[in-house]
Amino acid sequence: MLVAMASAKGSPGVTTTARVLASVWPTPSVLVDADPAGGDVALVARTATQEPLDPERGLLSLAVDARRGHEGVSLESHMQVLDGGQHVLCGVQRPEQVAGMGPVWGTIGTALSRHAGTVVVDVGRLALGSPVTPVVSAADVLLFVVRPHVESYAHLRERLTWIAAAENAGSVSPPVGVVVVTDPRDSTSTKDLAALLAHSGLSAHVLGTVAHDPRAADVVAGRLSRGIDRSMLVRSVRSLVDSVRSLADTRRPGLVAR
Ligand SMILES: Nc1ncnc2c1ncn2[C@@H]1O[C@H](COP(=O)(O)OP(=O)(O)O)[C@@H](O)[C@H]1O
Ligand SMILES: [Mg+2]
Repeated sequence: MLVAMASAKGSPGVTTTARVLASVWPTPSVLVDADPAGGDVALVARTATQEPLDPERGLLSLAVDARRGHEGVSLESHMQVLDGGQHVLCGVQRPEQVAGMGPVWGTIGTALSRHAGTVVVDVGRLALGSPVTPVVSAADVLLFVVRPHVESYAHLRERLTWIAAAENAGSVSPPVGVVVVTDPRDSTSTKDLAALLAHSGLSAHVLGTVAHDPRAADVVAGRLSRGIDRSMLVRSVRSLVDSVRSLADTRRPGLVAR
């Protein structure tokens, strides 16, 4: 299963939520850092022996494989293992490397979607013409992360509108879910957002909330440790897993070669 995670604009917490989602996923998962603006994982994460990751091994080395036209490129030799056991594919260091990867994004999307385990891919801010669009098209589900603010909702609506327009023009999009990073006591934002989207005729499913939990988010930004297993952040993301899975299961089979 390929889960793509994105923001419509700004920095609502995509990377943090993606890292936690991959870590709490109940079956083996790979976290892929595909933010075209430049990856974070290679900068902060460490291996079990506290070595930094090899920034060249990951999407860049996978792209080299893909460019050689290998049928069925596999992720195995490009993954690294973080302290704690999480498998990751490091992202690009500089935005120009993304542009250089050009047409191989389609092959990378296929490789990610064919991987045997669950793949959680952070595609950063999803803009019109983003080079990682083929990865999003190959996903089983696209999750937008938003904050409960009017501007955040407006940008989400605009992104959903162009996804709908692209679908009408014949492109393939996965089912779309939205998660709201908000105060754990906030019980109204998800309902308000769902009503707003329904009113606009946009078919995105508001799946729930991710707890706004700065302490746990700081730990995630450094190194995911056991210390936050019981945090509101981790518990809130864990409770989203079933709805993410159910939404991914609604993807109509047969639309994308896989
Ligand atoms: N659930 C959360 N609770 C509190 N702070 C968060 C949460 N998620 C992210 N943050 C903080 O928000 C900032 C942006 O997070 P990040 O995950 O890098 O966002 P993005 O990938 O959308 O740019 C960071 O300072 C991060 O620690
Ligand atoms: Mg990010």
